[in-house]
Order: sequence, then structure tokens, then C-alpha cells
Amino acid sequence: MLVPDAVAEVDFTRPLSAAEATGHRALVAHRLLGTFYEADTVLLPEQGLGALRGDFDHFYGDGLRRLREASLSDLEHFAFALLDDEIDVTGAWSVEDLATYFEHAAGEADAGEVESLTTIAAARRPAVAADTYLVQLALDGLTEASAMSRNLGGAFGPEQSALFKVFIDEFGYGVHEAKHTTIFRKMLRSRALQTHVHAYWNFYLAGPLATNNYYYFVSRDHASFFRYIGAVSYAERVFAPSFVKMIETYRGVFGDDVDLHYCEEHAHIDAHHGRITRDEILLALAERHGAGVIPELVRGIAEARLLGGWFEQDTAAQIRWADDLDTYRVTGSGIQPAEAARRVELAAGSPFGTRSHDRAVLVVVEDGAAELITGPTAASAPMARGEAMLVPAGRLYGVRAAGSACAYSVRAADPDTPAVTPSAS
Ligand SMILES: [Fe+2]
Ligand SMILES: [Fe+2]
Repeated sequence: MLVPDAVAEVDFTRPLSAAEATGHRALVAHRLLGTFYEADTVLLPEQGLGALRGDFDHFYGDGLRRLREASLSDLEHFAFALLDDEIDVTGAWSVEDLATYFEHAAGEADAGEVESLTTIAAARRPAVAADTYLVQLALDGLTEASAMSRNLGGAFGPEQSALFKVFIDEFGYGVHEAKHTTIFRKMLRSRALQTHVHAYWNFYLAGPLATNNYYYFVSRDHASFFRYIGAVSYAERVFAPSFVKMIETYRGVFGDDVDLHYCEEHAHIDAHHGRITRDEILLALAERHGAGVIPELVRGIAEARLLGGWFEQDTAAQIRWADDLDTYRVTGSGIQPAEAARRVELAAGSPFGTRSHDRAVLVVVEDGAAELITGPTAASAPMARGEAMLVPAGRLYGVRAAGSACAYSVRAADPDTPAVTPSAS
């Protein structure tokens, strides 16, 4: 559900800037981009195609394929051109410089906190917060190593074999029960969450979508091969320690009530993958192909760091807002009449979709009663006629009719109205 009205609002003529990396334009672009990339992978439902055969034909069919092929490069430029402004790699880099930069970047990740995990631990409803984070991981977890698979073809020497070694680990050496996506699904099931690829599509945030799309972006176009290698080496290196932190947080929240095999597997095997990718791929490629490729390897490391930061910031911001939602309720004089309010009407059976806005807005229930939904397992927030909620810029929400029908308006929030300012959280 792309929420066509929300897509139509977006000005696609101006590429994204880093300041709006977790905003609405980013969300729309990355939803489209993620769908395009997924269409280059094979997705089949667990229960079999059966009556969904028509969906298969439509999703993979000629019409959407041509649309995708005609727009993919432009959409990638729209979404990722900002990386050229954000990351500047200049000067001559030796293999030693590359190794030093890599260790510096990885060391900072090891020493720093994982913002989402800290936010989960501090949340009033840590289980809801932990599910929100887990769902963001599902974006990669349920199709893990799909982008990597695009870098396995061709002929590039011993580094190709080293990458394949990492890849077959991700695929459980051909044993389906050991495949990382399979053990990720076990973790979801232990939280009573659904396991099919698009179960929580509506709740993927712009930052996590951008991170996931980035790996497809640099894997689709092999001119970016060295960027991909920098990025994947960094990712494999920082995964193990971050999963150690995740185990700690999730044990703290759920006790034994969660299956953490997925995290334990990565805390173990990514220590190994981090060494393989650094020594046998990243540094080996730098040695073999020389100074001409090192700046791109460095760029990939820097890009993976930057995007990883957006993943965390966006997820933590969503958790904080959803966890503290009642303080964002606006009443009485806080609800100013607005000329440019957009009215949305919903019936009980209306399809559910989510969106965000580039600026703070007020969602005001005009008729009937509504429920505001902020996360995959968050309790919906009831809103009666005349009630309003402040949705800060970039926060993801959906609205459902609580009865047979409702109508709500979306108005620009006036940041000077005291009632609109959320209490400190
Ligand atoms: Fe994995
Ligand atoms: Fe790995």
C-alpha cells in the first residue's frame, strides 16, 4: 500500500538532502525503491501461490518491469545523490590508511551505544519498543544476503571465493533450517509476530528502508562494486558486537520469552565474517587493484556508517514518540482552524496504510471516532471527534476508523502554539 495521495504530494524534481533522510519524501522514495529491488528477487508466499497467481503475474509482469527499468536509475539518483555531498574522500590512500580508517570506524561503533537499544531499555513499554526495532530488522532479516547475491557472479579471483564463503554461511550451507532468514523467523514467531516478507511493510521507517536499499543500490550497478565491498566489510565487522548488545537488551526486556538464536548466531559468525571481509576481501582487493580503488572502498565504509546512523536515529525517534504518545495529544485552543487542512475519509473496511510528513502536523478527528496506529504491536490510540494528535516531522502513523466510518483532517502544526509543544520526554 503506497498511499497514492501521499506519493502524489512528493516533488521528485529535487533530490533528497541529508537533512530529510528520515522525512516523508525519503519514505516514499525508499518504499518505491525497495519494491523495485525486491522485484529483482524471487518472493513466493509460504502457503503457496494458489489464488495469488494473478498477483505474481502482476508484480513480476512486463508492465511493472518496464516502469521499473525506466525509472530505477532516476529514483536512485533522487534517493542517494546526497551521499556525494555528505561524504568526501580525497587525497591518496594507501592500504595501511584504509586499514587504519576501517579499524577507527569499527572501534567507534564498538565503543558507542546502539541508540535504538538504549531507547528500548528506557521505554515505558519496552516490549512494544523492542518489537518496533525487531520489525525494522525484518527488512533485511527475512531476505538476508539478497543484495550480496548480486556480487557473486563474474570472475574476480580469491576475493570472489571469500565473499562466497560469507554468502553460504548466510544461507546455512544449503540447510534451510540453518539459513539466517529461517532463524530470524524463529525470533519473530517467539514474539508472536508474523513471518511473511511483507507482514509489517507498513511499519518500515525511512531510515531502515534507506539502509536496506543502499546495499541493493551499490550491488545493482557494478561500477559501485568497491563501495559495496567497503560497506559490507564494515557491516559484517560491526554486526557481532551490536548483536551482543541486542541480546543483552532483549533478555532484559523479555527474559526467556524470546528466541535469540538469530542474535547469538550473528554474535558468533559475524566475528568470523568481519575478519574474512576485512582481510580476504577489503584489504586483499586494495592490495591487488591498487590506489585507484581505495577511495571507493573508503567511501563504502563511510556510507555504511552514515546510513547505519539514520537507521538508528529514525527507529529511536519513532520508539520515543510512540512510547510517549499521550503527551502529543492536543486539545482545545491548541487546535487552530486551518485553511489548508486536508480531509481524509475512512470507512471500517478501508485499506490500512501509513505515512509520514516532512513537517509536524496535527491529525484532527472531524467526524466519528478514529484510532491512531504508530507501530506493529503498539496499542492503537483512540481519538474521539474533536481530538487531535501532534505528529512530528518524519513520524510514521496510520489511521483506522473506530466505528463504521470517520473523517480526519491533517493540518500544518503551528510550532508557536504552546499546547502543540510536547512535554519533555
Ligand atoms: Fe546473517
Ligand atoms: Fe554475516
